[in-house]
Amino acid sequence: MANYDVIVIGAGPGGYVCAIRCAQLGLKTAVVEGRETLGGTCLNVGCIPSKALLHASHSLHEAQHNFAKMGLKGKAPSVDWKQMLAYKDEVIEGNTKGIEFLFKKNKIDWIKGWATIPAAGKVQVGDDTHEAKNIIIASGSEPASLPGVEVDEKTVVTSTGALELGKIPKSMVVIGAGVIGLELGSVYARLGAEVTVVEFLDVITPGMDGEVQKTFQRILKKQGLNFVMGAAVQKTEVARGKAKVTYKLMKKDTEHEIEADTVLVATGRKPYTAGLGLDKLGIEMTQRGQIKVGKDWQTNVPGIYAIGDVIEGPMLAHKAEDEGMAAAEQVAGKHGHVNYGVIPGVIYTTPEVANVGETEQSLKEAGRAYKVGKFMFMGNGRAKANFAGDGFVKILADKETDRILGAHIIGPAAGELIHEVCVAMEFGASAEDLALTCHAHPTYSEAVREAALACGDGPIHS
Ligand code: FAD
Ligand code: NAI
Repeated sequence: MANYDVIVIGAGPGGYVCAIRCAQLGLKTAVVEGRETLGGTCLNVGCIPSKALLHASHSLHEAQHNFAKMGLKGKAPSVDWKQMLAYKDEVIEGNTKGIEFLFKKNKIDWIKGWATIPAAGKVQVGDDTHEAKNIIIASGSEPASLPGVEVDEKTVVTSTGALELGKIPKSMVVIGAGVIGLELGSVYARLGAEVTVVEFLDVITPGMDGEVQKTFQRILKKQGLNFVMGAAVQKTEVARGKAKVTYKLMKKDTEHEIEADTVLVATGRKPYTAGLGLDKLGIEMTQRGQIKVGKDWQTNVPGIYAIGDVIEGPMLAHKAEDEGMAAAEQVAGKHGHVNYGVIPGVIYTTPEVANVGETEQSLKEAGRAYKVGKFMFMGNGRAKANFAGDGFVKILADKETDRILGAHIIGPAAGELIHEVCVAMEFGASAEDLALTCHAHPTYSEAVREAALACGDGPIHS
């Protein structure tokens, strides 16, 4: 039992980053985490393990499909699934231990256990009650459930089970063509599973640029993923280790069944607030179960803040981190700020898909005049050399002022390229500013410049 300036609840990217910034700003800080390791969803069962499996399965795909073309002959590697999982676990451990090290370095106490907030200024963990001038809730999210679908994390799994399957399934049904479904669906398709994605809407990755959606789906189909669109899943049934998924095609109003070794339920995530005692505290929530906060991330109860997946906004690690830093600064009496207009989103498939800012759809809805600069990776020498010519960069700029309003990239290293546009947007740059910036040759980044040139007098290589 001790007195703190700040107690953070949850050690995910929101919570641990917030705690480190609090400590750096001179505040006596503790973090309560109930999981056995630090890092939250992201490091333990989210961003990091999924990227490890994406990397391993992408390497296999390269060996199988592109090595021979470059004169690299020999037997393509076979998959040792146990070793691949061990590699993934090692990556997780390296990262979670890294956070432990950072906590020690910054003199942050890790209070192990599950926290309840009996009153403002108090955090209870087991039999101990700790005092804190400020409490920051960063309790994250959990997979959303689907009526009629019972998850056993063996045959019918969420992303958590999908990251540690006993064996590579021969067939997999993915419910939901969102980020998780397509990333993990790609992993298992590359490892040899017959993957069928069943999606409620007529498009994949809802909310994304329409052209990107179409190109992305075409490329994924070419990679062997099957899609059933406009389909509402009714139920799943498991018998003798196999699952049957029943869905209804909405337009035809017909019911269908599909069987698979594994079903991955990836229909979104919901805020996790169980056990915190928010009801008793009278903390205001949104209709979607998120904690309501003001501009300074403070809830309606003074001294209690919330950040990350548990509040509104995109459920992304970097959004949680930014809020963590900003909330820490607010608590320390400074002026923390997050620019919600410039939060990139990245899907780590091959090719990668990345976006920031407005879409054509959102600009049309807002009645804002805009221009489009687009450049295909086929015109980029580096991409062609690396078998990565599929995809494009699209920059949206204000029709009058040329100010960059958004960017949508599908192609090689899209998740890295997008940040050039993010920085430009933060500085209020015009498309011409990007177009006039010298870009090294031969790089993928030249495609971003060409798209910026396309907003003006035109690109060179198309
Ligand atoms: P979390 O990371 O969920 O952490 C919350 C922590 O709080 C947990 O460790 C939990 O145990 C703890 N906790 C909760 N309640 C209590 C309590 N009462 N007492 C003590 N501890 C408590 N985002 C990206 O930006 N990029 C990606 O590539 C990406 N990939 C993903 C892949 C998958 C498979 C999944 C599931 C998610 C992915 N995400 C990705 C989303 C990302 O993981 C989340 O947006 C991010 O982890 C949110 O951070 P957070 O700190 O808000 O919460
Ligand atoms: P999502 O919101 O991205 O996608 C869910 C999909 O399921 C949507 O396409 C939706 O239309 C569909 N769906 C909903 N109900 C359905 C039904 N009954 N039948 C069929 N389809 C249905 O959610 P997802 O993929 O579960 O990811 C959750 C969160 O995790 C996201 O908010 C995302 O931001 C985060 N995440 C981020 C990653 C990244 O940044 N690379 C990677 C993985 C997750």
